[in-house]
Amino acid sequence: MLNPTITMANCAFLQLTLPIFTLVLILSSNFIQTHSQQFSRRLSKTEMGLKAQKLSHLHFYFHDIVSGRQPTAVRVAEAAVTNSSATGFGLVVMIDDPLTLGPNMSSKIVGRAQGIYGSADLSKLGLLMVLNFAFTEGKFNGSTLSVLGRNAVFSAVRELPIVGGSGVFRFAKGYAEARTHELNFKTGDAVVEYNVLCTPKLHSTHCDIILCCFKCISLWHFTMRMTMFPIFDDVRSFK
Ligand SMILES: *[C@@H]1O[C@H](CO)[C@@H](O)[C@H](O)[C@H]1NC(C)=O
Ligand SMILES: *[C@@H]1O[C@H](CO)[C@@H](O)[C@H](O)[C@H]1NC(C)=O
Ligand SMILES: *[C@@H]1O[C@H](CO)[C@@H](O)[C@H](O)[C@H]1NC(C)=O
Repeated sequence: MLNPTITMANCAFLQLTLPIFTLVLILSSNFIQTHSQQFSRRLSKTEMGLKAQKLSHLHFYFHDIVSGRQPTAVRVAEAAVTNSSATGFGLVVMIDDPLTLGPNMSSKIVGRAQGIYGSADLSKLGLLMVLNFAFTEGKFNGSTLSVLGRNAVFSAVRELPIVGGSGVFRFAKGYAEARTHELNFKTGDAVVEYNVLCTPKLHSTHCDIILCCFKCISLWHFTMRMTMFPIFDDVRSFK
């Protein structure tokens, strides 16, 4: 589930779009010039090569255990007003929360969420989250994603920015969507579902080779069609 996959649909899409993309790039390269006397201007994604950038999708569950003998989230600091504040303003919690494939704590552990969250909103419950997802599974083992964002824990979906990464996630950018899967009001323990969308796109070397072949074939196919059978193609499309 953690493994980003390249589907045949992806490859087919690439086959269609790659030649067009290449053509657009060649044509547009003439227009990439800086205009002096201009403070700002819009840049197209194509110019910057961003349109071709694909995303990785990670899915896992985050277990925030504050109760029991072995809590994974512990209170490390508070303010004088924290206990009397409706939002626990000033509370700081250090976490080393397990990340699992499924919602059940006993399912496979794929990493840990290590860092700090603090109550940072005086009027509504909103946490400042500063943490790393430290992955331990397969090719992700040893790689991290860094999160820095606001978590309004009672909202159905919270969006947290991914601000960077290490290992296979070097130069990472993206966002995480958090949804509370389970919250025990008695103990305060919570299970949160995370969907992370970020660059870079990761795939196996196996897929690399297939993708490369696809690119070559589609480029050749496109060239042949444009040079040899442009008319026939038109006729066929009306049948
Ligand atoms: C606030 O409440 C917590 C948990 O009930 C307690 O451990 C802590 O000592 C309290 N802090 C103050 C300043 O009263
Ligand atoms: C979680 O897994 C354990 C052991 O496999 C099982 O006993 C338990 O019922 C499961 N809990 C849920 C909520 O599915
Ligand atoms: C992850 O890497 C560490 C250190 O390199 C190693 O000890 C551990 O067995 C690895 N875990 C997995 C699941 O590959």
